[in-house]
Amino acid sequence: MVNIGVLISGNGTNLQAIIDGIDRGIIKGKIQVVISNRKDAFGLIRAKKANIESLYIDPAGCDAAAYDQKILYELKKRNVDLVVLAGYLRILSKEFIEEYKNRIINIHPSLIPSFCGRGYYGDRVHKAVLDYGVKYTGATAHLVDEGTDTGPIILQEVVKVDDNDSVETLKEKVLEVEHSILVQAVKLFCENKLSIKGRLVSIIDEE
Ligand code: GRF
Repeated sequence: MVNIGVLISGNGTNLQAIIDGIDRGIIKGKIQVVISNRKDAFGLIRAKKANIESLYIDPAGCDAAAYDQKILYELKKRNVDLVVLAGYLRILSKEFIEEYKNRIINIHPSLIPSFCGRGYYGDRVHKAVLDYGVKYTGATAHLVDEGTDTGPIILQEVVKVDDNDSVETLKEKVLEVEHSILVQAVKLFCENKLSIKGRLVSIIDEE
């Protein structure tokens, strides 16, 4: 059974999708802890409701590296194998990435490498998509490396941009797709079906 740690900063709908995926037997894993850098993250309530240990770790007073060490301590203490960034808005330190090389999955609300990188998160992504006038956007589940949204891509799914879409309507359509590809990516990781060769992640189809 793969031990999962989920880092959040907000509403936690991606966290909820993982919780539901486990409850339905789709994901062969167990969420050992949910950690938030924001005290008011609704995702902490979702964790509590699901009887999952949830921690708020206050970032005040410590630099990025020290903060990550606090998180790493809590993850290692619970033998976490896979870290999922579910709407987590901090950039991870080099040490963290090394400690969990190829074992950190992030979900991003666009088709990477478009509309990603520093400053592209949440509604800003969808606003940039609408302002640019692209006809398709989508979501990307990817492994996390030292960069921002630059790690090897696991899964992507496309969402059609309609002329009358707003940030709100587009966000809703993309969020649905985020939930499905994140659950799928975590499922595949837990079943050890991801083959990672450099930047290329392929899915091992056992007969
Ligand atoms: C969403 O914008 C999502 O695209 C990104 O984080 C934000 C919050 O997601 N991954 P959640 O509802 O907190 O999971």
